[in-house]
Amino acid sequence: MSVVRCSVYLVVLSFLWTFIGGDAAVCVFNTSCILPCSFKPGADVVIHWIHVNGKEITVHSYYHGGDQLAYQDQRFKARTSLFQDQISKGDATLQLSRVELQDQGRYKCYTSTIAGNHESFININVEAPISEVHIQQDENSITCSSKGIYPEPKLTWSTSPPSTNTFKKPTTVQQTDQQLYTISSSLIRVHDVTDLTYSCTVSAGTNQKTTLLKETSISGEGSETTIPCADKKAPHTGLIWRFNHSQIVLTQTSADVSYTASEQWRQHVKDVSASGSLTLKDLSSAQDGTYTCELSDHKETFITNTFLKMVESQGNSHVIIGVVAGVVVLIVVVSVVGWLFFRRHQQSKKNEVKFGEKETGGEEHVALKNRK
Ligand SMILES: *[C@@H]1O[C@H](CO)[C@@H](O)[C@H](O)[C@H]1NC(C)=O
Ligand SMILES: *[C@@H]1O[C@H](CO)[C@@H](O)[C@H](O)[C@H]1NC(C)=O
Repeated sequence: MSVVRCSVYLVVLSFLWTFIGGDAAVCVFNTSCILPCSFKPGADVVIHWIHVNGKEITVHSYYHGGDQLAYQDQRFKARTSLFQDQISKGDATLQLSRVELQDQGRYKCYTSTIAGNHESFININVEAPISEVHIQQDENSITCSSKGIYPEPKLTWSTSPPSTNTFKKPTTVQQTDQQLYTISSSLIRVHDVTDLTYSCTVSAGTNQKTTLLKETSISGEGSETTIPCADKKAPHTGLIWRFNHSQIVLTQTSADVSYTASEQWRQHVKDVSASGSLTLKDLSSAQDGTYTCELSDHKETFITNTFLKMVESQGNSHVIIGVVAGVVVLIVVVSVVGWLFFRRHQQSKKNEVKFGEKETGGEEHVALKNRK
């Protein structure tokens, strides 16, 4: 009985191996992918790569010492190549470029030489990773979206600290002709709450990305102000500061290269910290507006919108007080020094007079002596 069961298992296993077995590989959409295959080297090499998805489609053929593409399916045209100098060493590996989602599925590598023939299989899954999670803010709603994704993505929102001042509209998911997914979701803000961080996470297959949006406002006093970016120490892979949502203030491609300030803003940019904080100088109310910091690492993007308002009057009065105090101190110092100088001058004049008297007295004495 158990022998029968065992053989049934074996039959099922070998059946599964033939139809779904083989190696598996993940290819990234719109990039190149390697499909490995090897055989025992020999003369008269024949290679056929076949896509077996219900029907068999010729992907690439090689015989008579060269590529034979007359029967190649149009879908694979100009996207396949073998490593020509490796074929004689028993390597039939295929490179497939500009991978499409239709390329998913099972591939057969058939090889033959005078020594015999061989078949192997490889299963290809295609992923289109999330490249960017975009957050757009309108008067009373925040929309999070991402596109060009495969497999089907999911989207989640959260706020920090947790807030009940928002409600979520249904998430929409669409698929393009290329089978790529676009996902979008909006949060409606019931009340205006500042210093709240909105976080939107999109995940698909093994990858996920988050974008966080925070709104805040600060008032600048004096002519120098630091605008914070993200509460994060990890080295970033990209930093952009914008003014009023359009003008670029500066960009930095990673934390260990120097930033590039735009022509327009160069005179105002003083420094950028490791966490992305921006220090501006020589500010006036002409620089009032929204400063947007966008800082990314491999998994997250932090967007902070800071409304900056220069407090002019106070800034000016500080300057005036400073100037007045400076002038008063200067006057006091000048008068004290002048008075001391005058006193010393007077004193030395008196001394001179006294000394002169003595001298003349001495001369008289000498004269008297001489007379003796
Ligand atoms: C594929 O990549 C190329 C450059 O590598 C790019 O120009 C093109 O837009 C990409 N196509 C898609 C559909 O992403
Ligand atoms: C920037 O935006 C603020 C508020 O939206 C506006 O008052 C200011 O004039 C704008 N500044 C410039 C230079 O466009």
